[in-house]
Amino acid sequence: MATSLVWISGASGAIGQALAKTVPWDDARVIGISRHRPRDTIDYLKADLADPSMWPVVGDSFHREMEGFDGEHVAFVHAAGTIDPTGFAAEVGSEAYLRNVLLNSAAPQVLGQLFLAAAGPLHARRHLVMLTSGAARSVYPGWASYGAGKAALDQWVRNAGAEQEERGGVQVLSVAPGTVDTAMQAKLRNTPERDFPSRQKFQDLHNQGDLSEPQQVAAQIWSLLDRGLDNGSVIDLRSLDPS
Ligand SMILES: NC(=O)c1ccc[n+]([C@@H]2O[C@H](COP(=O)([O-])OP(=O)(O)OC[C@H]3O[C@@H](n4cnc5c(N)ncnc54)[C@H](OP(=O)(O)O)[C@@H]3O)[C@@H](O)[C@H]2O)c1
Repeated sequence: MATSLVWISGASGAIGQALAKTVPWDDARVIGISRHRPRDTIDYLKADLADPSMWPVVGDSFHREMEGFDGEHVAFVHAAGTIDPTGFAAEVGSEAYLRNVLLNSAAPQVLGQLFLAAAGPLHARRHLVMLTSGAARSVYPGWASYGAGKAALDQWVRNAGAEQEERGGVQVLSVAPGTVDTAMQAKLRNTPERDFPSRQKFQDLHNQGDLSEPQQVAAQIWSLLDRGLDNGSVIDLRSLDPS
């Protein structure tokens, strides 16, 4: 019987995969959620999280697995996200734009709510971690919906964290990982400057070897859970003191 339950959305991607590999608790049952099967997770829930009909399916997994669970830790790390379609809002396809809004803005709030509701009755230490981005605060033409989605997610975390501090007891955090060497960054470097005028900045970071490695970022994210951070904190790993 697992002593910890961990869901990781986006576990087929670089950061999600690194998180799945480095779960800090022994005997953890790790469930990856994505459209493509992750390489290393023990269990897999196939879901297109831009499709709202899949959200209750994930909620069912939370409820089913947590019902009667008397282990030590439960966690949901929501790392699924997309920069597609990168381009000016007036110029990109509406269908792809809608999928971006559903995945980046709506899914974290709905999945987060489902996790909090299912985890509420447990005595285990419980953690909900959202992957955000510096794009929640900085203006990047070409990323209107991506930046808006991450900003919405951060504000959701601040409020849900304050609620859980008052009653509930789940630790809720939002973590910006910095600029990490993943498929998402590679895609960005291949985006025409016209669609993303800041492209060269990210190309330069790559050329200078200034991208973080997913494993390093995953270790930092897990270490945050023991730092006694205020519930509802929005953290940028680049401004974290090394203690
Ligand atoms: N890399 C960076 O520099 C950076 C910077 C700031 C923030 N972040 C954030 O960190 C998180 C992880 O990013 P990453 O760089 O590891 O990205 P990545 O390598 O592109 O992986 C993205 C993950 O999201 C999943 N995903 C995308 N669309 C999905 C959908 N419709 N339904 C379900 N899952 C979906 C992908 O799985 P499938 O394709 O298999 O569905 C994949 O596992 C994201 O939230 C991103 O916004 C990254």
